[in-house]
Amino acid sequence: MRPPPSAAAQALNDTLARHHPAAAACLSPLGRSLFFPRGIPSQSAEARDCPINATIGQVTDGHGHALALPAILSALGGLDGDEAVLYTAQGGRRDLRERWAAHIAADAPGAPVDISLPVVAAGLTHGLELAAALFAGPDTPVLLPDPFWGNYTAIFERLHQARVIPYPLVRDARGPAGWLDVPALRRAIGALDRPAILVMNFPSNPLGYSPTRDEVPELVAAVADSPQPLTVICDDAYQGMWWEDEVYAHSLFHALAGLDPARVLAVKVDGATKELFYFGGRVAFLTFGAAGPAAQALEEKGRAIARATVSVVSSTSQAVMAQALADPTLPAQQATVRGHLLRRFQALKRALADAGLQTLPFNSGMFAVVRVARDPEEIRQALLREGVGVVALPEIGALRLSYGSVATEDIPRLVQAIARHAG
Ligand SMILES: Cc1ncc(COP(=O)(O)O)c(C=O)c1O
Repeated sequence: MRPPPSAAAQALNDTLARHHPAAAACLSPLGRSLFFPRGIPSQSAEARDCPINATIGQVTDGHGHALALPAILSALGGLDGDEAVLYTAQGGRRDLRERWAAHIAADAPGAPVDISLPVVAAGLTHGLELAAALFAGPDTPVLLPDPFWGNYTAIFERLHQARVIPYPLVRDARGPAGWLDVPALRRAIGALDRPAILVMNFPSNPLGYSPTRDEVPELVAAVADSPQPLTVICDDAYQGMWWEDEVYAHSLFHALAGLDPARVLAVKVDGATKELFYFGGRVAFLTFGAAGPAAQALEEKGRAIARATVSVVSSTSQAVMAQALADPTLPAQQATVRGHLLRRFQALKRALADAGLQTLPFNSGMFAVVRVARDPEEIRQALLREGVGVVALPEIGALRLSYGSVATEDIPRLVQAIARHAG
């Protein structure tokens, strides 16, 4: 049974009942439950004019302008009319899907594992929705890392009525191998009483944490020992943004895809959004860790859901990405932008330590979470008035900072502003 609409949804339903009775009467149960969450997108919109905007998870020059890769820009300027205008095949351009399969295989730490041909999705959100449509139904347990990206609840819980079970991602104190709370994850998996979904998101949003090399075997073993069939969705949005030497600089997908197919299905959702800094392109991929007929069957089911939701993804964006992936200088271009991010990460680590602010562990990605003693929403509002945009995470008494959109030279000012309000 779908729970009754939240207060925010009910307010919209009441408005419709007053001003458009037919719309109110005709809304589906899902339609009645919907409202636009007051999460990161709305907080980011409020900070649009802030000179320091540390809200949104995209990479800019720190002054609101794109750090676009030349491989993307030149492809945009020189598109072939047929490629850009005509439909592509269902599931996406074959050459693009094959190039992305090769891109995934190149990341494998050992011999590449068997994978399906990636299905093209309209951004990672859509890739996650494709996975949710395939594996989440009413009451399906979905283990989510806590804290997690808020859109997961909208996708799994609101759209598919799955049962979200948060598992603590990190401990209060560092263990011998790192910060991950693997025993808690093992307990959560051990308590499952039916087939379930586990979402792994490294580098994580909002924490900016990835496992260390020493944490990976224990993590993979916890999944391998699942008492119930488990779909592990690796949300690899921020893949490649690994900043500290001890970090495991690969997707966990490869290790998980090699586990017993009677127990574990690994699913990878990744794409151009953050890996190619092509946020507006809306090209992502859904790939299964499976071999032979199973890979083909899963790929077909992925294409079927894509067909039912967006039919095919924009030919224009797929053409841009196919050209960019064929550009031999692309890795160097990505490394240049990642170099900017690494310098911002280092500046932020230094400034936060100098200011004595308490953070949750972060070693990768583009976020850091700062614990605050006062109401995070009050601090966010006070910072907004000073032209500084951050995201409030009241559920964990913290602020999330995105250094993807703050110039290195502005980072000390960002941290000083927070320090003034945080105590
Ligand atoms: C963890 C995570 N997954 C997925 C996404 C969505 O990516 P996209 O913009 O491609 O839908 C985001 C975006 O912020 C994210 O942080």
